[in-house]
Amino acid sequence: MVPEVEVKIAESSKKLAKSAAKAMVRLIQNAGTHRFDVALSGGSTPYRLFRRLARKHKESIDWHRVHFWWGDERCVDPDSAESNYKMAYESLLSELDIPDENIHRVRGEADPEGEAARYGNEISEMLNSRDDWPVFDLVLLGLGEDGHTASIFPDRMDLLTSDQVCAVAVHPQSGQKRITLTGRVINNANTIYFLVSGEGKAERISEIMNNDEKAFSLPAYHILPVSGKLTWFLDEDASEMI
Ligand code: 6PG
Repeated sequence: MVPEVEVKIAESSKKLAKSAAKAMVRLIQNAGTHRFDVALSGGSTPYRLFRRLARKHKESIDWHRVHFWWGDERCVDPDSAESNYKMAYESLLSELDIPDENIHRVRGEADPEGEAARYGNEISEMLNSRDDWPVFDLVLLGLGEDGHTASIFPDRMDLLTSDQVCAVAVHPQSGQKRITLTGRVINNANTIYFLVSGEGKAERISEIMNNDEKAFSLPAYHILPVSGKLTWFLDEDASEMI
């Protein structure tokens, strides 16, 4: 099955967040009364999306149907400024009427190898599966200036085809340990949204969108849903070199 790929370019990061929020809400609404499993991305880009959802879409969805997971997490305490959970909780989750059991936090404070195994098992036990891999309804992803996504960095291209659901990765510059979904889980999702903002990502976006051979060594280039839909939400700065 040929994966469906769409590119949406917004004038600004604010309008990118508005467009992504509208698409995400429509996706969740179209799921009807079924449970919806979404893996959140980290870093700074998704903050605007989370704030938009909290401010404008609190009543648009029965959030009790939505289960929140993370595509990756830093191996830090949940109250650390580095924590992807902390950012998502403070900007969005704390403002929604959702049960605690719908929030599936990666325990960044735990032993990394043990937590990668535990989180992977929790995902496998709770999500539907297709071709023996868990299926997220939506995976949100960002793009690093080095072409990483989630916490799959260019020095760990093997994580794209790992037989594990989650793995431990190490940030190449900071040495910070991370827990990340692996490539086959990400690509097994029904829908993937890349949220990419800023001129710092423009060169990578150009390489990826133009199938430049430099892209082959970028983890983000290998994110393509097996049978789902991929939408790139870009702002004008990130897309200026396409
Ligand atoms: C993380 C992310 C990471 C992020 C990119 C882009 O934990 O940092 O999951 O993959 O999406 O590094 O980060 P920015 O949105 O901050 O540019």
